[in-house]
Amino acid sequence: MLIQRPENIFPSEITPRPLFDRRREFLRLSAGVALAGMLPAAEAKLGPGKPSAYSVSETPTPLKHVAGYNNYYEFGTDKEDPARTAHALRLRPWTVQIDGLVKQPKTLDIEDILKLAPLEERIYRLRCVEGWSMVIPWLGFPVASLLKQVEPLGSAKYVEFITAVQPETMPGVSSRVLDWPYVEGLRIDEAMHPLAIIALGLYGDVLPNQNGAPLRLVVPWKYGFKSGKSIVRIRLTDKEPRTSWMKSAPQEYGFYSNVNPEVDHPRWSQARERRIGEFSKRNTLMFNGYAEQVSQLYTGMDLRKQF
Ligand code: MTE
Repeated sequence: MLIQRPENIFPSEITPRPLFDRRREFLRLSAGVALAGMLPAAEAKLGPGKPSAYSVSETPTPLKHVAGYNNYYEFGTDKEDPARTAHALRLRPWTVQIDGLVKQPKTLDIEDILKLAPLEERIYRLRCVEGWSMVIPWLGFPVASLLKQVEPLGSAKYVEFITAVQPETMPGVSSRVLDWPYVEGLRIDEAMHPLAIIALGLYGDVLPNQNGAPLRLVVPWKYGFKSGKSIVRIRLTDKEPRTSWMKSAPQEYGFYSNVNPEVDHPRWSQARERRIGEFSKRNTLMFNGYAEQVSQLYTGMDLRKQF
């Protein structure tokens, strides 16, 4: 990933209910207008989503940045490339194959996935390994709700997320910048953690293509790259998946990739971050501020070695 710099601090808070309701109203009013110009007409509108106690109480990053400053290398490596080129992404038909070490392998159509579980609004921080961050009001449901459909076997230890390759719509896949398809992976207990979600929308609407339409992974305590976009296959396995970034630079990107201000990237510090749209920097928090909820997943591990 190309270099950027880090910035301040924010505790991981659960949003008090009245504040939450006010902000949702604000999001609904502002996002509808703003998204109208960014989404294919037929795709728009998912509705507001159920509020979630997992949301943080920080101000969401303006939509123009969320949908205008992206990493989606299939659509180019500059931050502005995906917003410019991802409109071509073919979203229908779209299926997700879920197989591997499961009792009931299935291929689900996106229309069925949309109806699979009630959509929740989850306002999460996203911290990129490059040193910038955002706060995004996602719409989605726990990864666990999707995995439940296929009944994982006891032997399944990992979950691999494989994303779309559409050479005719993705100018980036003709370059060798990464090994395509873009692949990410989690340990199964990480994937089943209630904070890990499948996002189908943001700011009250379907995902803009550049943010990973029609569905993506969001794992808020890990660096942003763990959150694979435009997923087409989910495979349960007993072996640690080799992810795209591990293949491209194993000395820089490990399997775990937890946000950790104490473990520097070999080429830059991870201690601080710059919130997109803000001027000053803030300190990066352990597990991106979600330590209370997730640190027990890593008890006994040396996170300097298993970065
Ligand atoms: N998924 C795919 N398929 N291709 C990518 O290049 N980039 C990752 C991740 N998911 C990427 C991807 C990286 S590096 C980051 S930081 C986040 O998506 C960015 O998500 P956002 O653009 O929605 O902020």
